[in-house]
Amino acid sequence: MKYTKFFSAFSVLLISFAVCSCGSKTYSLKDGTFSGEGEGRNGTVEVSVTITGGKVTNAEILNEKETDGIADNAKIQIINQFIEEGNTKNIDVVSGATITSNALLDALDAALAKSKNENPIETSYSDTECDIAIIGAGGAGLTAATEAASKGAKVIVLEKMNFVGGNSNFSTGGINAAYTKEQERLGIKDSKEVFFNDTMKGGKFLNDPDLVHKLVDESAGIIEWLQSPLIGADLSDVGMFGGATNKRIHRPKGGSAIGAHLVPLLHKAALAQGADIRLKNKVIDIIEENGNPCGVRVSYAGGEYTVRAKAIIIATGGFGANPNLVVFYQAALEGFGTTNQRGATGDAFPMVEKFNAELVQMEQIQTHPTVVKGTGIMITEAIRGNGAILVNKAGRRFVNEIETRDIVSAAILKCPEKSAFIIFDQKIRESLKAVEDYAKQGLLTEGNTLREVAEKTQIDAVALEYTIQEYNRFVEQKKDGDFGRNPSSMERPISQGPFYAIEVEPAVHHTMGGLKINTKAEVINKSGQSIPGLFAAGEVTGGIHGANRLGGNAVADYCIFGKIAADSAIEYVKSAQ
Ligand code: FUM
Repeated sequence: MKYTKFFSAFSVLLISFAVCSCGSKTYSLKDGTFSGEGEGRNGTVEVSVTITGGKVTNAEILNEKETDGIADNAKIQIINQFIEEGNTKNIDVVSGATITSNALLDALDAALAKSKNENPIETSYSDTECDIAIIGAGGAGLTAATEAASKGAKVIVLEKMNFVGGNSNFSTGGINAAYTKEQERLGIKDSKEVFFNDTMKGGKFLNDPDLVHKLVDESAGIIEWLQSPLIGADLSDVGMFGGATNKRIHRPKGGSAIGAHLVPLLHKAALAQGADIRLKNKVIDIIEENGNPCGVRVSYAGGEYTVRAKAIIIATGGFGANPNLVVFYQAALEGFGTTNQRGATGDAFPMVEKFNAELVQMEQIQTHPTVVKGTGIMITEAIRGNGAILVNKAGRRFVNEIETRDIVSAAILKCPEKSAFIIFDQKIRESLKAVEDYAKQGLLTEGNTLREVAEKTQIDAVALEYTIQEYNRFVEQKKDGDFGRNPSSMERPISQGPFYAIEVEPAVHHTMGGLKINTKAEVINKSGQSIPGLFAAGEVTGGIHGANRLGGNAVADYCIFGKIAADSAIEYVKSAQ
């Protein structure tokens, strides 16, 4: 495929303009057309770069699978700037399209390197040592890096992908916390006890209660830490989520996606505190001395090297993007899509076998109920929390939309099409900024009337109109007569056009099993003892969420236990000196 779909007449025009405007720059490149590759969210991004008279005169995307609308804009922006400037030095990743941006920049760099006959390896690494080696620069890794580096530890973070943030880049919902200053400001009554009970009930009481108590107890404090000048997050909007008794999911003002907000802040904070974050550096083994972990072996484009470390934090994330492992543990998920980024493959598990590390609840794998068919793009539960409903093709509601994910997923899979439609109106759209990203990505089916939406989506129009009329009556009465939905999620009737629909289906979202840890984030072995110097945080760990994670508890988990892992690692390093 030569010009991909985003090379519309508009973008070609932009690119031609960019080519003309680069006349004054000088370059020392070999003429010709060179190809390069980078790894994107859905596969390899392949580009060609043309050099004429020693200058970049054209760049094209030859192949890519980054399908969404934000990504399209990011691609146009990056290609234009690249042609304009002749290199990628000053090109920033586009917010909301981090993975696509990085893939494209990598591909352009690789093509340019060929034109210079250069080895594309920019930095070479050799054996080194540090206080704390962190495996993975996702949410947990970045949190741990920030905390540890801010307390003076020499930290090296090894990330196999070409971007930071991992799955946290896609997290839209927010962070759960109870008894916070933000809740108090908004007049929301909540308590640690209710948060604990909701989490245990959502997890079918398979959760490790000690870990849940820790999560709940530390939750208000972590909001303040994230809002402190060290990080500077905005968590001022508090909303309703599935399985929660009270509004407790904290997110940026207006309900913007938390991942796109928090990941860059954590990244910046970790760097500012002095953490050495190495992308495209894959840990291939945890090395041992006298049976205990003492460092990691790393592979990168230039070869291999060893980082000796006094403590190691495993923050590699889950395995939701490893279909073989998913099906190994949960055969019923054969053929399901995933919301996960490609790096979530569960690499850590084989590396800890030699330490006899205990794995718990590996079969507990969550599907997110509302993922756009065939794309892996998750539509946040927040939209249902703010008033959207789910209907089937027959135009009928079939479940309490803000039940826990296992229940909503199961109900959707019982529909004849194994998919459903999220239905909402303009007022609900305006209540949640995250919806604007979906609009930009072209995911909304819009109509001035419910009938128009029904015709476009082939939902039974008469039934849909009746369903909405009934639902609005429930909103007015503050009581869902059909499914007993929590009234806090029924504050808006679906009454003001335009109206919207998004077709969704369940997809693998969170792997809740993993390394057994204790409340100090120490990794526990099969004899129930902590493994000296080995800590873990985030989705790679198991037991916190039991059989079903509540929305908003993943961000709480990775921030709280990421910070605890760093503190425990520091304590361990000091005690070992
Ligand atoms: O629906 C969501 O926004 C997902 C949030 C989460 O997985 O915590």
